[in-house]
Amino acid sequence: MDDMRNSKKIDYSNSKPARHAPHSALDNASIISAYKRWAGVYDRVFGGVSGPGRRRAVEAVNALPGKRVLEVGVGTGLALPHYAQSKCITGIDLSPEMLAKARARVTEHGITNVDALLELNAEETGFDSRSFDIAVAMFVASVVPNPDRLISEMRRVVKPGGWLLMVNHFQAEKGARLLAERALAPASRKLGWHPDFAMESILSEEDLRTATRTPIPPFGLFTLVQLPND
Ligand SMILES: C[S@@+](CC[C@H](N)C(=O)[O-])C[C@H]1O[C@@H](n2cnc3c(N)ncnc32)[C@H](O)[C@@H]1O
Repeated sequence: MDDMRNSKKIDYSNSKPARHAPHSALDNASIISAYKRWAGVYDRVFGGVSGPGRRRAVEAVNALPGKRVLEVGVGTGLALPHYAQSKCITGIDLSPEMLAKARARVTEHGITNVDALLELNAEETGFDSRSFDIAVAMFVASVVPNPDRLISEMRRVVKPGGWLLMVNHFQAEKGARLLAERALAPASRKLGWHPDFAMESILSEEDLRTATRTPIPPFGLFTLVQLPND
């Protein structure tokens, strides 16, 4: 694990909401501030409910060919102990407090296949194009200010023929859940994510056709999306 202390200056110039951004878009400063508050309790509050989605995403990554994996929005590093030894993981996140938890986890678990944990913006990483075989974003797409830029950056840094994976909560199409998500949307700055986040806001019609979509328990609240980088 080289370069674990590396940290780059974050560019805030890129924090305008996306064209299709849901209600009450976040910006980088509010994300950093929200996750500074969440870092200490994140695993206890979200670790349980997000566990099945994270496990399925990491299992899917482990089953794919290729060694170099970029985990964007690595957070407190809950997924890090579960990657196959054959994978080499680079994790990035905007929040220094979340990254500090991830670094402590690496040390505590004696994890040897994490190459670097870096303070970087997932929408503009600065990595060379085609640096990775796989990019995975778990519970991140509904948090970033510009999810369409997140996806295009994941596409850029992954080799053609590689894979993009995302596990996320997506807005319900109808019913009581949709109403609840709309009601919660104005609180997105405090929550640190968009409850009213629609899959169509990041995936083109072509993507929606080629993606594998797997509903994840509990109640299909989350979906794992696996997309070839063609
Ligand atoms: C809901 S947490 C998910 C953390 C982790 N992936 C997990 O499965 O528990 C979202 C994470 O995305 C990070 N994040 C949000 N916007 C980001 C951006 N533009 N670049 C990098 N990380 C970002 C937050 O700091 C936070 O750690």
